[in-house]
Amino acid sequence: MTGCRDVMGSPRQSSSLLVDRFGREVNYVRISVTDRCDFRCVYCMAEDMTFLPRAQILTLEELGELSAAFVELGVRKIRLTGGEPLVRRGVIDLVRRVGALPGLGELVLTTNGSQLRKYAGALKAAGVRRINISLDSLHPDRFERITRAGTLATVLDGIEAAREAGFERTKLNAVVLKNRNHDEVSDLVRFAIERGLDISFIEEMPLGVIGDHDRGEAYYSSDEIRRDLADQFELIPTTETTGGPSRYWRIPGADTRVGFISPHSHNFCDTCNRVRVTVEGRLLLCLGQEHSMDLKQVMRAHPGDRNRLKQAIIAAMDLKPKGHDFRLDAQPIIFRHMNTTGG
Ligand code: GTP
Ligand code: 5AD
Ligand code: SF4
Repeated sequence: MTGCRDVMGSPRQSSSLLVDRFGREVNYVRISVTDRCDFRCVYCMAEDMTFLPRAQILTLEELGELSAAFVELGVRKIRLTGGEPLVRRGVIDLVRRVGALPGLGELVLTTNGSQLRKYAGALKAAGVRRINISLDSLHPDRFERITRAGTLATVLDGIEAAREAGFERTKLNAVVLKNRNHDEVSDLVRFAIERGLDISFIEEMPLGVIGDHDRGEAYYSSDEIRRDLADQFELIPTTETTGGPSRYWRIPGADTRVGFISPHSHNFCDTCNRVRVTVEGRLLLCLGQEHSMDLKQVMRAHPGDRNRLKQAIIAAMDLKPKGHDFRLDAQPIIFRHMNTTGG
């Protein structure tokens, strides 16, 4: 255990060396392993995207080193994200390396599911405990319209592959957009229940210019979703947590947790326990703000100097802002897209 400051500056016990100015302990890091993706989801990307050149992104070696530094600082949960993490060549080697880090409590991964038939078994064997899979619609045509490039049957097969691999839990993520898929929330919950999966419904966040829909008009709140679900299911609130922003409800008789990620309607910034690293090695202290520290520069200026890297990460905690300022009634103030951000 290590002594840390609390909000008032007095000492308190903490297991992480990463504590921000507001007394929030950071024990969860999301690492984007690529900005590339085989989908072009309408809420995430523009149709025509330019991806980063290879020299600009962290090598698998650097991503492993970064993960080790975070774990030594007290991080207990690492989530690999993208883009689509499974389109990065060699990603399983990275997963193995991170999965073997002593002291890491949970290695988890977020994926669009397109490559799971190929990789689910290897991910499980490499130490991934839980995976989250995006699934916004159960209608093939709608699925294709929302992802612009995805095929529903491939993702459903990927979900089956994940079930066969036997992860501790698998969660579906659905970004709910009014008049696109909001009428499917009950069907998605039923789909999750029948397969023993969890599911989270997500309010769309205004990151980057997407040129597809007006985010204000597409807004469908978690309260509206719960109201719709209440016609078909009894929802019991819980205090369960997966260490992320989801607040969970249970349905009697089912193993499924129904989560809501509600950055607009129920802000969760005061309990934020996470930071993210972009594939360019930029440590972002908040998804919805630009405060950041260039860790690639630190690593490339001082190769192999883990202490220096750790000092830079500790120093960055003072930059973590109080919370996001997402607004749906104005142009986005954050110009990076979700795929470069690590969600
Ligand atoms: P669990 O470990 O299962 O709780 O996963 P998670 O919800 O932390 O991760 P996932 O990758 O499934 O992310 C689901 C959604 O939550 C995505 O839309 C993320 O962008 C969003 N999200 C995760 N962390 C934050 C955060 O700190 N702030 C905001 N606004 N959204 C977040
Ligand atoms: N708002 C909310 N969620 C988003 N995701 C991608 N872009 C957005 C956005 N603009 C979700 C994906 C995936 C997770 C990593 O983030 O659907 O489930
Ligand atoms: Fe790809 Fe995920 Fe973005 Fe969809 S949300 S385009 S699957 S990175």
